[in-house]
Amino acid sequence: MMPSHIEQINLAGTIPKSAYGTCLAVGLIVLAIYVYDQYNFLRYQVAKVLAQRLGYFKDAQGNRMKELSFNSRFLRFSNGHEVSEQGTAIAGDEPYITWNDGKPEVVLSCPNHVKDFYGRETKGHAKPPNMGMGPYFDRVLGSSVGVLNGDKWKTMRKVFDPHLSHQMAMDLRSTFSREVAAWMKDLPSTVAKFGNGVPGSEFVLDASTACRILPFKLVALILYGDALSEAAFEELLQLNALHEKVVFKAFFGKRERSRLFALLPSQSKSQMDEFEREWRVFNLKMIQTAEAEGLSCPVAKMHPSVLNGAITEREFLHTIDEILFANIDVTSSVLAFLLINLARNVPAQTDLRAEVLGHTADPEAYLQKTDTLLEFACMESIRLCPAAWFSLPEYATSDMTVGGYSIPAGTPCIIDWWRLNTQSPVWNSGGVSGTAFSPQRFQRLTLQAYRWSFLRFGLGSRKCIGKNVSGIIMKTFLMAVLKEWELETVGVTKGDEQKMVDTRKDRFTVTPAQSVRFVPI
Ligand code: HEM
Ligand SMILES: *[C@@H]1O[C@H](CO)[C@@H](O)[C@H](O)[C@H]1NC(C)=O
Repeated sequence: MMPSHIEQINLAGTIPKSAYGTCLAVGLIVLAIYVYDQYNFLRYQVAKVLAQRLGYFKDAQGNRMKELSFNSRFLRFSNGHEVSEQGTAIAGDEPYITWNDGKPEVVLSCPNHVKDFYGRETKGHAKPPNMGMGPYFDRVLGSSVGVLNGDKWKTMRKVFDPHLSHQMAMDLRSTFSREVAAWMKDLPSTVAKFGNGVPGSEFVLDASTACRILPFKLVALILYGDALSEAAFEELLQLNALHEKVVFKAFFGKRERSRLFALLPSQSKSQMDEFEREWRVFNLKMIQTAEAEGLSCPVAKMHPSVLNGAITEREFLHTIDEILFANIDVTSSVLAFLLINLARNVPAQTDLRAEVLGHTADPEAYLQKTDTLLEFACMESIRLCPAAWFSLPEYATSDMTVGGYSIPAGTPCIIDWWRLNTQSPVWNSGGVSGTAFSPQRFQRLTLQAYRWSFLRFGLGSRKCIGKNVSGIIMKTFLMAVLKEWELETVGVTKGDEQKMVDTRKDRFTVTPAQSVRFVPI
């Protein structure tokens, strides 16, 4: 019998055929990876102890910063809420250390930590290489705009921003509406495929499943414009299936963190190679088609920046990937939570529907307004159900004092997103709890009041590239959905509306595991 891991490592042809030789070679490789990982752990442990000797990770009284002693590299994504609770238990309202594969990172969870960290941000903030996620992540997203820093980052934003502006999204409004309508028409038949859908009647669907393809289509339209044919979109769906496997390994793969493993032939490597190759071919083909047929296609308009050397082809491809694939999980979760939060809060849903129905005469003006229940519902849903349990790391290039503790330059900091967005005193004022879904709360709060208590599109000078587009996607979505259906919860006990929705453990975003009943109006 061959040990099962041989198949995964797939060393076909590179080692002796005999079982003995195979075992030995695999054993040596596993050992080498282990030794390499242990060496890394040790190196950073020593660095931290030295830093403490110098007074870092200590407050003014010399007290050491508390620390969650386990490695949260994977758990912060899969079981983020539990990690958050354990952090609160050991450190209360103070920042604390967590470990990312042997490297110390600092968790910020209260408005004063966030203000200390971002409020004094001048030029000196940056994202660590590969977001601290190792060589496999590097190959798929390591050169994307979200990971790069300094002048490179600025140049890249200049290339991509103009195609993701508020105006661009407004111009696409009717396209978006058409796509949302088509999605709504098809939704009941998604259920029929599983056996219990009768046309024209109510149906029940898992919210994340229901919202998976729609934002993918909308963002693909933003990127490829008129060049996105049905066939091209089908190809993108195929690529997405491959991309999901690759990204899953980038976030959750254990061996994929090893540089040595990255060099060896393996299933992970061949999937990565295949994705890399096909993604390049797909984009070049789209650009060619757009040019040959004179179709309007934003990606084709961005491409000259590669040809004239402003950005590399790798940066270009990684960023389009980040915009299209990597953010689908975020955007589809955000849409799913909108459905769930409104289903759980009937009064909020009724009020919002009334507002939507009162603005059918001029939907464009309604979309543009920012003091509407529609806007507040979108804000409230992201506040209560953030896209990830913890933000991706960012560090300051000079030493800092955060929450009273001294932190050395270069220490990655992450935000406990749910805790900041729900536990900060500003969310628990006026008799409304921070864990309640209450869009109206934004009517009485000023932006200044929640400036350091609300992570949505980024807290520093660096912001989500999709923030303007997202608002229009979310609003167009809600306007259409609320006219068509009443949303009801499934399997939520009365009184439990304030409990966090169950979430999946196999995604790097906070993904609800919750069904919604769609009742035609
Ligand atoms: C409502 C849904 C969304 C939320 C809550 C969200 C949130 C965020 C956050 C918190 C960041 C990190 C900002 C920082 O550096 O501190 C970010 C970055 C980014 N997001 Fe979004 N996002 C959303 C939708 C989108 C969409 C639809 C796209 C693509 C069109 C997108 C593309 C990006 C990119 C490329 C970055 C990296 C930007 C940079 O570092 O320059 N996001 N997003
Ligand atoms: C989104 O809008 C803000 C303010 O209206 C603007 O500063 C920002 O550059 C826009 N972002 C993009 C990607 O166009």
